[in-house]
Amino acid sequence: MSAVRRDGFRQSARVAVDRVALAGLRSIYGFHPWHAQSPTSARPYRHGVADLVNSVSPQVVVEVGCGLGAVLARINAAKRFGYDVDPGVIRAARLIRSRSIVFAEGGFEQVTEPQIDVLIAVNWPHDFPPDQMRRWLAPLYSRIDYLLVDIIDPSSPSAYRHYHDYAFLEGCAEPVATSDCGEKLRNFVLFKVVR
Ligand SMILES: C[S@@+](CC[C@H](N)C(=O)[O-])C[C@H]1O[C@@H](n2cnc3c(N)ncnc32)[C@H](O)[C@@H]1O
Repeated sequence: MSAVRRDGFRQSARVAVDRVALAGLRSIYGFHPWHAQSPTSARPYRHGVADLVNSVSPQVVVEVGCGLGAVLARINAAKRFGYDVDPGVIRAARLIRSRSIVFAEGGFEQVTEPQIDVLIAVNWPHDFPPDQMRRWLAPLYSRIDYLLVDIIDPSSPSAYRHYHDYAFLEGCAEPVATSDCGEKLRNFVLFKVVR
C-alpha cells in the first residue's frame, strides 16, 4: 500500500472512530446530529479558526454558537467562554472540555463579559438574516476588539439560508485577516473593531 493510500485510510478510520464516539455522547445528551457527524478530524477548519484567533494573542475569547467547544479548545487565552442555544451540546461540552472553558446556554444577548478580545461566530450565522446579525452585534462593539465570522460564497453548491457579506460592519469594523481554513467556497474573516 502506498504512503498516500495508507494516510488516507488512517484518516478515514480516525473520522469513523470520532463519529462513533460523538454518536455515543449524543445518545446521552441529545444534541443536534450535525455535531456527531462533524468531528474536527472531518472538519479541520477549526484548527485554522483557532490560528486566526491565536494570531492576536487574546486574553479573553468568547464563541457564540460554540457547539462542543472544538474551536475554543484550540485557543490559547487566559479566559475562554462558549455560548450555545442547544442545552444538550452545552452539557456535553462541559463534560469533554477543560474546566477552564466556561460554557453557558444562550446567544449574543446572553454574553455578559465586559471586555472581549475576540468574539467568534462561525458556521451558524447563515441561518439568520443580515439585519438580525446587525442587531445582535451592534450592542457588543463597545466591548469587543476583534470579531471572527465566516463568509460563504453564494456559488457554493450547498444551500444556505443567507449568504452574509457583513457589509453592515462598514464603519464599525475592518477586515484584518482572512483564511479559507481548508474549506471550499468559505472564508473566515477576522475584523478589528474601529474605535
Ligand atoms: C454547525 S454548529 C458549529 C459549532 C461551532 N461554531 C464549530 O464551528 O464547531 C452551529 C452551532 O450554533 C448553535 N446556534 C445556532 N443558532 C444560534 C444562536 N442564535 N445563538 C447561539 N448559538 C446558536 C447551534 O446550536 C450549533 O451548536
